[in-house]
Amino acid sequence: MQLYTLKSQVETSVQKTIRLEKTIGLVPTMGSLHQGHLSLLKRAVESCDIVWATIFVNPTQFNNKNDLKNYPKNIKNDLELILKISKNINVFSPEISEMYDSELKTETFDFQNLDKELEGKYRNNHFNGVGTIVSKLFELFKPNKAFFGEKDFQQTRIINRLIKIKNYSTELVICPTVREQNGLALSSRNALLSTINKEKAAVIYNKLIYCKENFEKTSFKNIYNNCKEEINSISHFELEYLELVNNESLEKEQKIDANNSYRIFICVLVNGVRLIDNILVK
Ligand code: PAF
Repeated sequence: MQLYTLKSQVETSVQKTIRLEKTIGLVPTMGSLHQGHLSLLKRAVESCDIVWATIFVNPTQFNNKNDLKNYPKNIKNDLELILKISKNINVFSPEISEMYDSELKTETFDFQNLDKELEGKYRNNHFNGVGTIVSKLFELFKPNKAFFGEKDFQQTRIINRLIKIKNYSTELVICPTVREQNGLALSSRNALLSTINKEKAAVIYNKLIYCKENFEKTSFKNIYNNCKEEINSISHFELEYLELVNNESLEKEQKIDANNSYRIFICVLVNGVRLIDNILVK
């Protein structure tokens, strides 16, 4: 494994890979790796010649200073986990000053309202921050494929749009959400939960399954009320949103169209920790 902290080192290595006509797979992360990230790395190793994992807590995608401050970090453990997947994965873990000038300039993108829905309503400018760092990484690594998890489905729609806006030739590979045994979607933020709240957070996926099972049986209003009541009855749990949206545009629709597909997104605050998840319902 090679660990790089400078863009110039990456550039040299990427140029060599391109000269040798080998394919590059990129797995961007903010570290504090879990089995979800490792599943992305495994997919990348299976389908690309050279695989890069990036570990960088990107400040421009945090609208909340405390969230950024509390974001879990554990680079030593991250490197050990990566080594277990393959000795050949390269890691890029730069300082903030290597990726940004002192003003932390954030690019503004026309995401065609994809960034105004769901997470975008609660996290001002979050997706411009994601777009800014992902475009910097795509331009540095020139990946043939980039791997992202379905748990952050809205992010995958944003990156799909970013690829079109910037005309990147990178293929976006979306990998299934990896879950705890109780159904809780793996997330670096789970490290911030107490053991008991982690157990209770099983309610999030249980309610998503309930949504899927009842989607065609009753109104979404009834489904929403049932979920809100059950989640908010757990102490320190608060439903931030539960939304039924078009799977492509991520917009709410007045009427369900037999030809469209739909997804339900959920965000629950557990003692202030944001947990998100989603399920395809049709
Ligand atoms: O999903 C994440 O961990 C981050 O949003 C990403 C894509 C690494 C950009 O910082």
